Amino acid sequence: MTVLVTGGAGFIGSHSVERLLETGWNVRVLDNFSSGARKNLPTHDALEIVEGDIRDFDAVRLALEGVSHVLHLAAQVFVQASLENPPNSCSINVLGFVNVLQAARTSDVQRVVYASSAAVYGPPQPLPIDETHACQPMSPYGLEKSINDQYGKLFEQEFFLPLLGLRYFNVYGPRQDPRSPYAGVISKFISQLKQQQSVTIFGDGTQTRDFIFVKDIARANVAALQSPLTGVCNVATGKSCSLLQMVQTLAKCTGQPLEVVHQAARHGDIHFSSSNNDRLGQVLNTQDFTSLERGLSLLVQETEESCE
Ligand code: UD1
Repeated sequence: MTVLVTGGAGFIGSHSVERLLETGWNVRVLDNFSSGARKNLPTHDALEIVEGDIRDFDAVRLALEGVSHVLHLAAQVFVQASLENPPNSCSINVLGFVNVLQAARTSDVQRVVYASSAAVYGPPQPLPIDETHACQPMSPYGLEKSINDQYGKLFEQEFFLPLLGLRYFNVYGPRQDPRSPYAGVISKFISQLKQQQSVTIFGDGTQTRDFIFVKDIARANVAALQSPLTGVCNVATGKSCSLLQMVQTLAKCTGQPLEVVHQAARHGDIHFSSSNNDRLGQVLNTQDFTSLERGLSLLVQETEESCE
């Protein structure tokens, strides 16, 4: 069994590749190294790395030769960047995605699992959100992922290509780049702590998120490749917490108090976010998720080691 992982050198991709190799898969990575890096990937006999862009149909078609499964993670991942340059984001997230589907459909691929996002939902009402929740995306990024889900459904119906879109919630963990202005709140706070800076909470900190450790995302990705489930599926821990609780847990893990500054709430921020995990339960054991305390401890530890 050989799986093509697009975007395999990136944050979620590289953890997924590690997990796939541990599980005994042959892995081929297709990455243009625009944000991913070779150093994120191990040297392994069962791993092949191909440099190429998902917007280049021939590159995708060639990369799919001899492949039985696809894990499609290559994307423009920043909500803010999608607002600033919608055409660029669309070309990667929609055209690139359709290239992967078309190449898969015309090859021997048995199954495609791809990264969707909780961003497809927009303002959540009611909570927790399940997959039947209305899609009212608030950014080009969310819209692009929602279009992916519709394309996925269409390719399954019309071309009998089994597909599963995973709607990730707030992912954190090693290798998430804190330097980006759009970095996730946890990687940003850890980097600020390291530089002995205060952290900034936008709003009063009562907003909630479902923070999921990247190794659990990797586990879900591998389980999803092996599962018969199709359509879309939330990927979250099912346990949300407030930003204030996250900051307290982080302080406990680092053993030092955080100096917190409050600023006005971010425009367009949703206040509460939480996931219904019933459907995810059909893919993997949802009781096994890394707790926030453990995930943050691992991240802090790894960040300290990489500084030494
Ligand atoms: C996240 C995803 C986004 C996805 C969305 C789906 C990340 C980086 N972004 O956005 O791709 O579309 O979920 O729901 O994972 N905050 C602070 N201080 C900071 C940075 C952030 O208080 O310095 C706050 C934000 O205002 C927000 C919360 O922390 O309330 C989480 O922010 P962020 O990590 O950027 O993720 P989301 O906005 O939830």
